[in-house]
Amino acid sequence: MGSALYLIHTLGCQMNERDSEIMAGQLEHMGYAPAAAEEEADLIIINTCAVRGSAEDHALGHIGRLKQLKAKRPRMTLAVAGCMAQEPKTIAWLKRHAPHVDLVFGTHNLHQLPRLLDEAEQHQEMLVEVWKSAGDIMAEHVPSRRKPGVRAQVNIIYGCDKFCTYCIVPFTRGRERSRQLDDVLAEVQALAGEGYEDVTFLGQNVNSYGHDLLPRVDLADLLTQAERIAGIRWIHYMTPHPRDFSQKLLEVIGISDKVSRQLHLPVQAGSNPILRRMNRKYTREEYLDLIGRARSAIEEVTFTTDIIVGFPGESEEDFALTLDLVREVRFDSAFTFLYSPREGTPAARWEGRDPVSDPVKKDRLNRLMALQYQISWEANQLLLGTTPVVLVEGPSKKEPRIWAGRTQQGKVVLVERESEADLTDRFVPVKITSAKTFYLAGRVAGAPFPASSRSVHTIAVR
Ligand code: 5AD
Ligand code: SF4
Repeated sequence: MGSALYLIHTLGCQMNERDSEIMAGQLEHMGYAPAAAEEEADLIIINTCAVRGSAEDHALGHIGRLKQLKAKRPRMTLAVAGCMAQEPKTIAWLKRHAPHVDLVFGTHNLHQLPRLLDEAEQHQEMLVEVWKSAGDIMAEHVPSRRKPGVRAQVNIIYGCDKFCTYCIVPFTRGRERSRQLDDVLAEVQALAGEGYEDVTFLGQNVNSYGHDLLPRVDLADLLTQAERIAGIRWIHYMTPHPRDFSQKLLEVIGISDKVSRQLHLPVQAGSNPILRRMNRKYTREEYLDLIGRARSAIEEVTFTTDIIVGFPGESEEDFALTLDLVREVRFDSAFTFLYSPREGTPAARWEGRDPVSDPVKKDRLNRLMALQYQISWEANQLLLGTTPVVLVEGPSKKEPRIWAGRTQQGKVVLVERESEADLTDRFVPVKITSAKTFYLAGRVAGAPFPASSRSVHTIAVR
């Protein structure tokens, strides 16, 4: 008999992607191998996201549909993990509507996966292991199975202490906890040794990194030291908060060759009364001041953002201020969201009293997207004729004769395939010949580097 097979479905953000790699690493350490399809899997894990209602509905729908498969293959184990597992309402829902789920484990219980799977097998009923907080545990040295290639994600800080009034994350991911600088740097060093060249530092709030460490360090220190690691070419970080973006950090990015010059600064709204009620802890003016300081400190800086429309009580005037801010900053791109009430958050209580109606919310979202698309298109036109380096991720999903990749500043670039050489995971200078709203396109304009593609296939201990 071959080894048992696992499949992990990951919803939501990069933190969840990284958690899935840590689940996969532990499973492979136990002897599991990846399954190609649900029908052959002995274990399916749904790693859920709770940030908006749509993500939750998606996960619950999927879990519901797996009931049939479970009936056909009763020995298959079905597990639910991620942010939804932290919510008591999910557990209640699963017990009632999805008793075919065998195991539910929370965001603080990842490192216990082997034991939990063992216990779930002995258990007749659904086994639920969800710690409310991480306590003093910082699980280091847990095996992890990264995606092969040259891009890797590295956790630097867990949790969020900001408590924006719309957001569920502080409840599902707990308090801010930074990993030790030396542990992070050792991980990056090891990754470089395995052939990874592009690292993304992860946290809900990366610029709070280090405030809880002794000696105190910050994200600027981490970037400065990570940059010295040979073999690492590009460095990204996800997600910063506009409030703690220090001048020191702007300066470090400004002089760095490795750190991306694209700043993702989620603004959420352009009106001060809404920002105050969102508890964002900055004003429109402070945000614009940060944009100005970034423009002075970082040559060719670009900005992207997240915006929520239809926050409770958002008036047409408030919304007009959001549009106005978008026109002023001219973001390269923006993730735009309809406000989604999250049970247990303060804004969800206000939603009852002061909701923005669905048609108004949707109309605002459409107007915002139309404006942003126009600006994105215009910003991309400026890149026509330039020759950025593109890290090729692989053949385009839709068109195998085209390579898809990204620039250091995060722009999607489609590259014409002109030879049989495999450009996957290689850095290639590309002359931009066409610029659309969501991507650039062009032709190879120089030798790819490194000279040959490498594939990394190890289960490293993180
Ligand atoms: N409704 C809509 N969007 C939300 N986000 C977070 N919480 C909500 C919510 N309740 C958005 C924010 C955040 C991004 C990751 O998701 O814009 O920056
Ligand atoms: Fe949520 Fe605000 Fe924390 Fe971001 S900073 S995770 S939006 S509470």
